Amino acid sequence: MGRIMIFTGKGGVGKSSIAAAHAVKAADEGMRTLLISTDMAHNLGDLFLQPVGREGAAVAERLDALEIDPEYEMEHDFHHMMEAIYEMLPAIRSQEGSLSMIPGVEELFSLLKVKQIYESGKYDLIVVDCAPTGETLSLLKFPELASWYMEKFFPLGKVAMKVMRPIVRPLFQIQLPNGKAMNDIENLYQQLIELDQLLKNRNISSVRLVAMPEKMVVEESKRNYMYLNLYHFQMDGLYINRILPQEADAAFFTRWHQLQEGYIKELEEAFGNVPICRIPWYDTDLNGIDALRKLAGETLQEDHLFDVRKVVDAETYKKTENGYELCLYLPFAEKDEIELHEGTMEVILKIGNFKRDIMLPSVLSKYRINGAEMKDQTLHIHFEFVGQ
Ligand SMILES: Nc1ncnc2c1ncn2[C@@H]1O[C@H](COP(=O)(O)OP(=O)(O)O)[C@@H](O)[C@H]1O
Ligand SMILES: [Mg+2]
Repeated sequence: MGRIMIFTGKGGVGKSSIAAAHAVKAADEGMRTLLISTDMAHNLGDLFLQPVGREGAAVAERLDALEIDPEYEMEHDFHHMMEAIYEMLPAIRSQEGSLSMIPGVEELFSLLKVKQIYESGKYDLIVVDCAPTGETLSLLKFPELASWYMEKFFPLGKVAMKVMRPIVRPLFQIQLPNGKAMNDIENLYQQLIELDQLLKNRNISSVRLVAMPEKMVVEESKRNYMYLNLYHFQMDGLYINRILPQEADAAFFTRWHQLQEGYIKELEEAFGNVPICRIPWYDTDLNGIDALRKLAGETLQEDHLFDVRKVVDAETYKKTENGYELCLYLPFAEKDEIELHEGTMEVILKIGNFKRDIMLPSVLSKYRINGAEMKDQTLHIHFEFVGQ
């Protein structure tokens, strides 16, 4: 079974360098490895000092690199799915014929490409070098959202579609597809469900966060961690990059050392359960395979570097005396900013601008929420039996 490692973090913190160092090390250790960039501002070519591009290139023994071009993928590999989407949203085609205006679509197709490559079985390890965190988060939550929309619009299969057509059109301004396109839509739907499952499969995929000991980055990393948990991704590694070496002891750096120490401590406290790797600030840029090998050799020495490392479960159900309890591990979520809504078979959780629908297992269909409390960074939602 292959492995997918997703590297994310704020812009400029060192995602590409650290992702690439992992890829180089994996290939050196004998794994067939692909380093794939989904960041529109690609720089794998600069990192390896050779053109990479959307067709990909072999950059070392057993190591390929690829800079995804979502527009190109949409036109080529996913042409049918694009047609399906155009079929549903004809207005899009007329407006410059581009889908990229729908937020998240490019990221979605980048991820579908990752899935396609994963399924080809060509690689033991796929290292994904992502766009900066904001974009990555929308990217990671997209499969779930997309499936949700698909389910709302097309829940009943082809026959019911005919019946729904007159109702749906005026409400949503969405053209319902004809029979042929329906296959493509069903296919797209299926792909989205599988993508969501693949990225959340804790035997295959995990997310590694790259940070720097710096105020803004620390704040963003903490929130990022909470959202990754909220959306059910396994976050199994934090990299604190650009730590000033102790030798940098000129008076100017003394204050910086202190500041960095403070932020490193804050990160360590916040990511208590997650394995942390410290990376020093080098006195040169990290370009070229030799620099990446040096980085890997000096900092990526831990055992099980490429495994999915088991960290506290983010979402668990427990049986209680008079019902069930759903425990959501939400580090850094403030009690006051959490909003909880109860649907028929779902719980809707809002934290700031983020929203998540947690589909409840069918065993809870005869239960209702009768309380919730935040304890030890975990939101405990209680369900009690209410009968038919
Ligand atoms: N630990 C480090 N020491 C010195 N330079 C670094 C370090 N980490 C990253 N860099 C440099 O910082 C720049 C940004 O790194 P990069 O990996 O491209 O960040 P990102 O992908 O997060 O935007 C690059 O020029 C890289 O060589
Ligand atoms: Mg980058």
